[in-house]
Amino acid sequence: MRVPLAVHDGCLVPDTYDICLTITGNEADKYPAKQHARRAARKLGVSAGLIYLVGQPTINWGDSDQPRPFRQRRYFYYLSGVDEADCYLTYDIQSDLLTLYVPDFDLRHAIWMGPTLTIDEAQCRYDVDRVRYFASLQGDLASWIDKHNASSPIYILHDSQKPHVLSRKHVRLDDQRLRPAMDAARMIKDDYEIRMIRKANQISALAHRKVLEQIHRMTNETEIEGLFLATCVAHEAKHQSYEIIAGSGKNAAILHYVKNNEPLHGRQLVCLDAGAEWDCYASDVTRTIPLGADWPSEHARNIYRLVEKMQETCIAQIQRGVTMKSLQDSAHFIAIQGLKDLGVLGDYDMLEIFHSGASAVFFPHGLGHHVGLEVHDVSVQSNAALAGESPSQALLVPMATASSPGLEPGMVVTIEPGVYFSELAIANARKLPLAKYINFDEAVKYISVGGVRIEDDILVTHAGYENLTTAPKGEEMLEIIRRSIDN
Ligand code: GLY
Ligand code: MN
Ligand code: MN
Repeated sequence: MRVPLAVHDGCLVPDTYDICLTITGNEADKYPAKQHARRAARKLGVSAGLIYLVGQPTINWGDSDQPRPFRQRRYFYYLSGVDEADCYLTYDIQSDLLTLYVPDFDLRHAIWMGPTLTIDEAQCRYDVDRVRYFASLQGDLASWIDKHNASSPIYILHDSQKPHVLSRKHVRLDDQRLRPAMDAARMIKDDYEIRMIRKANQISALAHRKVLEQIHRMTNETEIEGLFLATCVAHEAKHQSYEIIAGSGKNAAILHYVKNNEPLHGRQLVCLDAGAEWDCYASDVTRTIPLGADWPSEHARNIYRLVEKMQETCIAQIQRGVTMKSLQDSAHFIAIQGLKDLGVLGDYDMLEIFHSGASAVFFPHGLGHHVGLEVHDVSVQSNAALAGESPSQALLVPMATASSPGLEPGMVVTIEPGVYFSELAIANARKLPLAKYINFDEAVKYISVGGVRIEDDILVTHAGYENLTTAPKGEEMLEIIRRSIDN
């Protein structure tokens, strides 16, 4: 900016300054990595030590020369905002110094794949104090160890991410405290993160709407997946937060059905659980859609209305301090009442049915989970995937337990009740003591309905909550389908 010269006594004199502002990047738009590093250190509760994080390396598929699609490690992203391969990060807690290490320049890589980040580019783009090439990492670590390691450890996430400091034999490490500290930090989202989750939800809403507009023309589940994905990619959301689930008919009762390749003909509903990712942040959205201008059967409509009631009641109860367990119990009681009214559950005491586990035959997963950098995001009770459970266990929304802590402002959680009529689950229930509560002749009439799940992402606020999911559901969803058929 150049301030104009002033005229004094007919002469042009410089009575002001020339100011030259060079804008090298908008700080306000940078991922708040430094704030996250300080937050993680506060949760660690120490005033010294070095946090050392390894970014996702480039890895080829087994027995192949093709690289696996890159997905940044989320703990690394949280402290860096860097979505590039082969990077490292240190945060010196005492001196509040966040350093990013980027790959050394590699001519062959640059020619084939494009250049990796230069130090200047990285410094401009990310909210870190220093950027250095990988070649400096060993020396920097060695000198930190010499000065500080006697009194403070290097904090690492996992034993497998130990720094290899060749010249130093004894390195004091702590691989226990960093992960719970970062989980506690990640559980509460800041404004930047909420913006990302909101944006992911906006794109998911567009894609769900597109499916509703075209569903009457579709003949196979593949087309639903294809249109959802195409819409997200066209809006620059290249990645999905998880594999798309587009289950029609009986497939709607398979909670994580991902084959998505069966004909829609003769099916009543399709359960579409699909959410775009935006800048590494997830959305998680489920809509259950009738295949036709209206509900294909009374049975289908009744189950939709029941799940709608479970969801609306639970969302309305959200405020700070409320636990997921209490919301989940509330959803079960609504399901029990609804299934009793429909004759699927017998005329027994509600509490007795609840404690028998009979409602869990039809609503077998938890009510919801945190959403953030992971679709099943971390919390102080760390999630199944990271606890090393089997992949199939990790996919399910775990049941909230009595020890689940109260909701706090800044948390984003899904509320995703469902009622399903799985042939396998019903057959299994016949063999259990809870069988006496179920009217199987009625239950099997719903098998062709498959199941209904409705899922929104809810931000807990100081005043209560805000629903971040804007994909049409209920009457609005039906209207869109009807209008599209009429046109
Ligand atoms: N889309 C996975 C889930 O709802 O948890
Ligand atoms: Mn979910
Ligand atoms: Mn989902």
